[in-house]
Amino acid sequence: MNPAAAPDLDIDANRVLLNRYRHVLHEAMRVFAGWLPRIARFELKCEAGRTIWENSLHVNALYLRLREIQSPAFQAPDDAALLRLTAELIHAPDEQGLARAYYGVVAPGLIAALESHEVTTIPNSDLPSVRALKHILLDLRAEQGRVRPLLAEAETAGRVTDAAYAWETHIARLLSAAGGIAGGGSRIDPPGASASRVEFTPPREAARDERFTTLGADLAAMPPEDEHAAHTEEEFERYSTEVLAAETVAVVMYHVRGMPWEFQLDAARHLHDEIRHALMGYEWMRRRGMDPFRSPQYTHILKWRCQFPPAVQYCLLTMGNEVHAFPYRHRRVEAHQRAGDRLSEQFVRYDIADETQHVRFGHRWLPELLKQSGDSRNVEEFTADCLRVWEQEYRTGRLTLNVE
Ligand SMILES: [Fe+2]
Ligand SMILES: [Fe+2]
Repeated sequence: MNPAAAPDLDIDANRVLLNRYRHVLHEAMRVFAGWLPRIARFELKCEAGRTIWENSLHVNALYLRLREIQSPAFQAPDDAALLRLTAELIHAPDEQGLARAYYGVVAPGLIAALESHEVTTIPNSDLPSVRALKHILLDLRAEQGRVRPLLAEAETAGRVTDAAYAWETHIARLLSAAGGIAGGGSRIDPPGASASRVEFTPPREAARDERFTTLGADLAAMPPEDEHAAHTEEEFERYSTEVLAAETVAVVMYHVRGMPWEFQLDAARHLHDEIRHALMGYEWMRRRGMDPFRSPQYTHILKWRCQFPPAVQYCLLTMGNEVHAFPYRHRRVEAHQRAGDRLSEQFVRYDIADETQHVRFGHRWLPELLKQSGDSRNVEEFTADCLRVWEQEYRTGRLTLNVE
């Protein structure tokens, strides 16, 4: 073997690179969390949720490696051009602009950087990084495979605005000005401000695309449980609306700063679980020839939750909705068993497994969230206060919106 041709990435250069990848994946989590309620196209919203979750796993893998070779493990990269790129992403003019910039420019840039890292680092010495990067690449390539058709479909359908195309070009220039994700490419002069940039404002309402026909229905009483067929239909129709829970976790993730990394990791899993619960409802309805886009969306629930501080929103969801769902869910498992409906039974049992974790997350993080928000109540008082609101407003369906 020719020693001159051997891979020889220096360990100091290596940690700078791993930190750049971590930073980009991590910032994208926050960008998509901020945008999640605002993304209207259902399939894109689901992919954004999946990106938040998968990126959290990638950030975690890089964090576990980085903490072995730098302290502190989480550091902002020392490159103003890269920081500008990641800070700009959120100010996309619309959801297609955001999607084209991230999935069409940033993610492919990341893939190119990771592919090159694999072959330039010293393979045996840096095997822990190489293994992590190979797994990240697997997910990023699969993500491209799922999202590219969504971007192409939007283009064919004429849903991509001029502003979105201009934004994609702007982000591509910012990436070139940073020398690519790895920073080693030739750098162009930084571009000026983009005319298509729209300053991001956190959404307080949930967007749905035009295929959804009922946005604002009230939560009507469900058919009684002993009317098994009618009740089950409504049970799974309600699952299809759990995107609202994902959107609430996204709002909390976006607004809360300074929480430990493990909170973001748990919240990302929580968020995407709720996307999967919604998809479970879609699958159930489609198997029975029903159109899930015709199910009511109850978007006022998100508007109602958004008027409370993030810690209250998180408490309403985990200690209100999630804690109280178990007796009902267990009755549903038994009902589906009695009816010989194996798939519905399995769906609910997996849901119970996820929801058990969500309640655990609530217990784990509410004390930290309270501390971080400066609320002087102890967790018991705080939870009791939140549950009073939940009982009076959510359970009764009287979702009071205080007009500001
Ligand atoms: Fe759920
Ligand atoms: Fe949940």
